[in-house]
Amino acid sequence: MLVNLNKVLPRARAHKYAVGAFNINNLEIAQGVVAAAAKLGAPVIIQTSEGALEYAGMEYLAAIVHIAAETHKKLPIVFHLDHGKEESLVERTIKSGWYTSVMIDASRYDFKKNIKVTRRIVELAHARGMSVEAELGPIMGQEDLVNVSQKEAAFTDSEEVKRFVAETKCDALAVSIGTAHGAVKYVAGEQPVLDLKRLKEIAAITKISLVLHGASSVPHALITELHQSCSRMGDCGRVHDAIGVPEAQIKKAIALGISKVNVDTDIRIAFTSAVREKLLTDSSFIDPRKLLGPARDAVQQLIEKKIKLFGFR
Ligand code: G3H
Ligand code: 13P
Ligand code: ZN
Repeated sequence: MLVNLNKVLPRARAHKYAVGAFNINNLEIAQGVVAAAAKLGAPVIIQTSEGALEYAGMEYLAAIVHIAAETHKKLPIVFHLDHGKEESLVERTIKSGWYTSVMIDASRYDFKKNIKVTRRIVELAHARGMSVEAELGPIMGQEDLVNVSQKEAAFTDSEEVKRFVAETKCDALAVSIGTAHGAVKYVAGEQPVLDLKRLKEIAAITKISLVLHGASSVPHALITELHQSCSRMGDCGRVHDAIGVPEAQIKKAIALGISKVNVDTDIRIAFTSAVREKLLTDSSFIDPRKLLGPARDAVQQLIEKKIKLFGFR
């Protein structure tokens, strides 16, 4: 069943768990995510970035998600646009009728313009029964089309939150409290800790659903697995300095009010690692299903772990 964020996030915040928001780019990732959520009976947010839409096309990804929702009629699935930066794309997504939710990411603008742009998208989306996530304080990091340098990044100003939420009427707010997009979130030697004091202040100010982006943990086991094959692939440098958000920090953030947790990087690592493993250990096939089947299973395993970590009950 397709629902919007308001059907799943307020309950999550009240019960101190978070709903996982997972980025999909293809059939196998989508199936891995849905299989995990269905197995655990947990609500799930399936999101597509601008990059995913460029890669696979909105129609194809929407068709996959709609079939998943028809197949799992009792499972609450939110179909969400992740980091809609261009208003024209967000409008196209809203008007497509396929999505139940969008994110307008106008965090690169000044406070007033962020409010103005977000408010307009909220009006359009609410008129169609869709929910809107907004971002206040650009979150650092680099991932294809989502790219914010350290100079541009800024932590969310808790003083601004109340006015932003009241004036935009958004349904969920992405906060910048020390996470970053991509595999390298912290430089070596830096403590990977979140600004939980700031999160506590924000949560005390507003009841709105709070979102943690850049929340991949880049678990040691996943990186080790990837490194087992990367020496043979000759590109160990790619994830050499990867440091994610420790799982204990994610749990604390959820306890303090985060109810949507975004994960993409960990999915990429799990998927790629399974593909590499298969290619390097078995060269006897030309059937792509033998290559992508194990990657789909790896995604499912990862998502099951994430849902459990996020504390669904
Ligand atoms: O938040 C960023 C997402 O992980 C999107 O990444 O633009 O490479 O698809 P992408
Ligand atoms: P990661 O890069 O930490 O997986 O974050 C993904 C994200 O925030 C998508 O919006
Ligand atoms: Zn993000």
